[in-house]
Parts: sequence; C-alpha cells; structure tokens
Amino acid sequence: MIQIQPKQSQKTARKIMVSAVQPSNRLTLGNYLGALKNWVQLQSQFDCLFFAVDLHTITVRQDPKELREQTYRAIATYIAAGLDPNEVTLFAQSHVPQHAELAWVLNCFVYMGELNRMTQYKDKSAKQGQNIPVGLFTYPALMAADILLYQTHLVPVGEDQKQHLEITRDIAQRMNQVYGDELFTIPEVYTPPVGARIMSLQDPTSKMSKSDPDPSSAVYLNDSDDQIRKKLKRAVTDSGTEISYSPEKPGIKNLIDIQSAITGQSTQTIVDSYVGKQYGHLKVDTAEIVAAAVGPIRDRTEEVLKDQAFLNSVLKRGAEKAGARAEQTLKTVFDRMGFIPRG
Ligand code: TRP
Repeated sequence: MIQIQPKQSQKTARKIMVSAVQPSNRLTLGNYLGALKNWVQLQSQFDCLFFAVDLHTITVRQDPKELREQTYRAIATYIAAGLDPNEVTLFAQSHVPQHAELAWVLNCFVYMGELNRMTQYKDKSAKQGQNIPVGLFTYPALMAADILLYQTHLVPVGEDQKQHLEITRDIAQRMNQVYGDELFTIPEVYTPPVGARIMSLQDPTSKMSKSDPDPSSAVYLNDSDDQIRKKLKRAVTDSGTEISYSPEKPGIKNLIDIQSAITGQSTQTIVDSYVGKQYGHLKVDTAEIVAAAVGPIRDRTEEVLKDQAFLNSVLKRGAEKAGARAEQTLKTVFDRMGFIPRG
C-alpha cells in the first residue's frame, strides 16, 4: 500500500491519478485484471482521470472507422467494468486540445538523445521499417503532457511504461527549474497492492497484448463464452503433470494467476485445490472462472454501446471537466514562457 501524506493545505483533497489506454484494439483480460479492475477499486480513493488516447494511436496507421468504434468501445468497457462516470473523469484525449498544445511545448524541452533511448520507440520503429513517423519518436512528449496537464500525483502503469514516466519526471523537473518549482507536480508510478500481470495464452513468457497478431493469445473482453473456453483449452501449458506455481511452469503459473486475480484467492490456496488433478482440470476451471467474470462486462459493454446518446454525454462532460483543469495548467505554462494572454 502506498502511504498518503497530504500536505497541510490539501488535507481533504484526494491525490490526482491519471491513466490511459490506446484504443487501438479491443481490450483484453490482461487490461482488465492488470489495470481496469484496480481502477474500479481506486476510483473513490483518488481523484481519477481515465481516458482513451486516440491521438497516440495514430503514430501507427489506423482505420478511421475502426478507431472511432474502438474509442467508443474503450470508454463503454470502462463503464461496464464499473468505473462510475459521476465519480471519475472519462474522456477522449482528442476532445481536450490542451494535450496537443502542451505536447508541443514539452517537445521543446525533451532531447533527441533522451527519446532515442526509449525502448518502446526502438521496438516499434524497428517493426515500422523505413518510414518512421516523427510522432512515434515524440510519443513520450504527448504522454508527458497527458500526465503533467492535470498536476498528477500518481500514474498506475505497468513495467513497460515506467521509462515513459521517468522521462515525464525529467521533463517536469527541467521545466520547474526554469519556470518555477510549482509549475508541474512531479508524478510517481503507482503500484497497486495487488497487481496482476497476465501473460499471453500462447507464449506465457510475454505479456498478454491487445496488439498480438495471434487472436488466440488473448481473451478479449468481448469474446463469447465459447471463444473463451476454446482459447483456454488451447492455452500453452508446460511439460510435466503436476500443478505447481513456479517460474519454470509459466503456462500453469499464468492460469493460476488469472484465477487468483479474479477470485481473490491466494495462489497457494488454488494450487492446494489441485493436488492429484491434471492440467486439463485447471484449464476447464479457469475457462469457467474467466467466462463468469468477462460475461457480464461483455454484455454490459454492448448495452452501453447501444446508447450512443449516453456515451456522447459522458464524453462531453468528461472533456469539459478535464479541459477546465488542463486549461489552468496550460495558461500558467504559456504565461511563464512569455506568451501574450489569449484575452
Ligand atoms: N503509453 C501508454 C500505453 O501505451 C498509454 C498512455 C498514454 C498513458 N498516455 C498516458 C498511460 C498517460 C498513463 C498515463 O500503455
């Protein structure tokens, strides 16, 4: 658990938490158990802004119709999973123009050498081949803007995003030195008390990813019960027959982790319940547990998606709330940099 020690002056103010997802594909069980499920539990404890980073997705070419659908779907899934739009601020990044505006400023305070070291950039640009968009290179500046605009204290992100948070802190500190200490709050990674890192069903040594080209590697949150059962049946397991929780058995470990993250039982309790049983039993049970968890989210997501008017009103309200806060930060930044007030 993180210790919260509010400054005297903000005793009653909750810490500000920001996180976001790229609506570049349907969300997976990994997104749910690794992030979303935790956010639902944190939503009243912190002052939360959660959004779909549509501007980030276009660093890789997107189909416009699909992008629009996935963005709606991401927000609908957030709501279906239990995020309350009256409690948290839900929005689409492109609806709050301050993100792109601050990103430009931050682009002038981050160095080529720093961006060159980003492992995500190295991986993605290697896959991209010859024509690497500049946006892919400056992606971390936009992400830093997402965070710094809201004077964020805590950012719950996985291992793969920690380097981006580090660079955000560096940029913030650099600008604070030039323009005054309290220009930006320095954000920290938030690691939830129980975090689950769900791995691919086909390669349990790599993370379950919504951009994996093999659809059987991930359970998507809109998979049917049948698809879920098939995917878990085909999940790659390990040699041997004994069900134990060990890094030498990453496939079995992953299934146990999935069960544990959903039911809240300890991994030991789960292992104990499989003494004398086989891998097949574990797979079948895990499939049923996953289907029971995903089913209601899937059905509710479809309901929410059907109500476009409601979704649009959530997005509008979210963008208004976020925009008002973002504008305060942007105004201060522009003012301290010497831009003439907009009047
Ligand atoms: N880069 C993150 C990812 O790919 C998404 C992201 C963009 C983000 N802006 C953010 C996450 C701000 C946390 C806070 O997963």
